[in-house]
Amino acid sequence: MKIKTIQTIPFADQRPGTSGLRKRVKVFRQPHYLENFVQSVFDTVGPVEGTTLIVGGDGRFYNREAIQTIVQMAAANGVGRLIIGQHGLLSTPAASHLIRLHRAHGGFILSASHNPGGPAHDFGIKFNMANGGPAPEKITEAIYARSREITEYHLCEGSGTPISLEACGSLLVGNMIIEIVDPVEDYQALMQSLFDFDAIRELFGRGFRMRFDAMHAVTGPYAKAILEDSLGAPEGTVIHARPLEDFGGGHPDPNLTYARSLVECLFGDEAPDFGAASDGDGDRNMILGRHFFVNPCDSLAILAANAHRIPGYQQGLAGVARSMPTSGAVDRVAEALGLRCFETPTGWKFFGNLMDSGQITLCGEESFGTGSSHIREKDGLWAVLFWLNILASRNESVEDVVVSHWRRFGRNYFSRHDYEDLQSETAQEVMTKVQDSFASLSGQKHAGRTIRVCDDFSYTDPVDGSVSKGQGLRVVFEDGSRIIFRRSGTGTHGATLRIYLEAYVDGQGNIHMNPQEALQDLIDLSLEISDLHALSGRNEPTVIT
Ligand code: G1P
Ligand code: ZN
Repeated sequence: MKIKTIQTIPFADQRPGTSGLRKRVKVFRQPHYLENFVQSVFDTVGPVEGTTLIVGGDGRFYNREAIQTIVQMAAANGVGRLIIGQHGLLSTPAASHLIRLHRAHGGFILSASHNPGGPAHDFGIKFNMANGGPAPEKITEAIYARSREITEYHLCEGSGTPISLEACGSLLVGNMIIEIVDPVEDYQALMQSLFDFDAIRELFGRGFRMRFDAMHAVTGPYAKAILEDSLGAPEGTVIHARPLEDFGGGHPDPNLTYARSLVECLFGDEAPDFGAASDGDGDRNMILGRHFFVNPCDSLAILAANAHRIPGYQQGLAGVARSMPTSGAVDRVAEALGLRCFETPTGWKFFGNLMDSGQITLCGEESFGTGSSHIREKDGLWAVLFWLNILASRNESVEDVVVSHWRRFGRNYFSRHDYEDLQSETAQEVMTKVQDSFASLSGQKHAGRTIRVCDDFSYTDPVDGSVSKGQGLRVVFEDGSRIIFRRSGTGTHGATLRIYLEAYVDGQGNIHMNPQEALQDLIDLSLEISDLHALSGRNEPTVIT
C-alpha cells in the first residue's frame, strides 16, 4: 500500500451544523473538499489507529464516491477496521446501532437526510461518536477549527481500491480490514428484541392492511425485509422501495406536503388501515390512519402512554423528553404517569446526554422524529413498529387510539408554518420585531387566553452543564398554548423561519376541530407581532405541517 500525503488549503465553509456538514453536491465535488473534512475529523476524534469505524449512507448521489475516499483515507490514517453497509447503504438508525453493537470508535453517516438528492442537490456527512449519537457541539466546533488550519491529508492508493461494495464479506486495504455487511440484519434483530413480532404478524394475518412509502430512499430494503418478509404484510405493502440516487426526483421528507401520494391513498376510498413513511436516511416517520393524520407531537405522547404494552419497554420508562417547539402533549402523559419530562433545544443531540445518563427512555420532535434509548438517533421504522405493536395489542383503529388519548389527556392542537428561502436579513428583522414586542405582550389576553411569559429559550444541559442560548422566541399562555419563532439551522440556501403554533383544549373541550381553524387566533397574533408578511413580502407560508 502506498500512503500519499497531499498538500491542501482550508475551505472557509466547513462548519458542521446540527446534522453534520450539508452542502450542494457541487461543493463536495471541489478538489480536496471532502478530504479536508474527513482528515479534520480524524485529527479531532483521534487517535484513530487500530479503531473500528462504521460507514454507510442513504444511497444518494455521491454516496459511493465518498465511501471510496473515506476507505482510502481511513487506511492511510491507520484505522483498524471499517464496517460498511452493502451497496454503501446504512440508514442513520442502523448506523447508530452498529456503532454501539461493535463498540466502534464512531462512524461516518453520509446523508443530507430529507433534502433532495442528485447532482444538482445536496450531500452530507456527519461523524457519530462511540455512543452512536452525533458528535456534540464541542467536537463539531473542534472539527471546524481543524478544517480552518489543515494543510495536508493522507490517502492510500492502489492495494485493491476502489473496493467493491456489492458483496458482503471481508477484504483488506493495506493493513485495514473492511467488512461489508448486510445493512438490515442487525437492525432487524434489534427491532425483534423490542417488539412483539408474533402479535404484529397476527395483526396482518387478520387482514390488517398498511402502506409504507419508502420514498425511494434508504428504508426500502429495511421495510421490505421487516414488514413484508418477516411480519407477513402482503407484497406491495412497501412502495417506492428501491433506493435511488435522486430519490426518484422527489423530496424524501415524510410530511403532508412531500408524501402526498401516500396521504391521498390513506384519505381515499380504498384506504388501508395504516400508512407510514420515512425520510432519506430513515430517521423520520409519518404515521397515518385511515382518513387520519397523526401529528408527531401526539404520536410521541401516545407512544409514551402505551409503552407498557411493548415488550422492550414493559419495565417502564426512565423519563421522556421533547424538543422545545414540540407540543406539550407528552408532558401531560408524563405528569399522569409520574415520569420526568425534559424540554430540550431543537436537534437530536440534546437527547443523547439524557439517554446516556439513564434519565430518559423516549423522546421526540415535532419534525417527524421519534426515538428511544435503543440507539442515539431518531428512528423512523422503530416508530412504525411501535405503532403496529400498539394497534396489534389494542385491536383498535389509529383514529380510535388517538381520539381516546385526547379524551383522556386533552388535545394540543399543533401546526408549524415555514417560510423558506427568505433573505437572512429579513429573517433577522422578523425575529428582532418579535423580541421587541415581548415587553408589551406579557399579561395581555388574546381570544380568551392570557399570555404568561415571553422569552428566548435557553437550555442548561443537566448532565454536562453546557448552556445553549437563543433557541427560539416563545410566547407562552397560561393554559400551555404557545407561539414560537425559530430560525432553521439545517437549510442549505436562504433562511427558513419556522412559526410553531400550539393551542390546548382539555378532554371535555372541542377536540375535533381542524388544527388550522383551532389555531387561527394564534396564527393571526403571530403575524401581528412579527409583521412577517409586510417585512418578507410573502402572504403565506411555504409549507404548513
Ligand atoms: C430540522 C428540524 C429539527 C431536526 C433537524 C434534523 O431542524 O426542525 O427538529 O432535529 O431538522 O433532522 P431545523 O431546520 O428546524 O433547524
Ligand atoms: Zn433524516
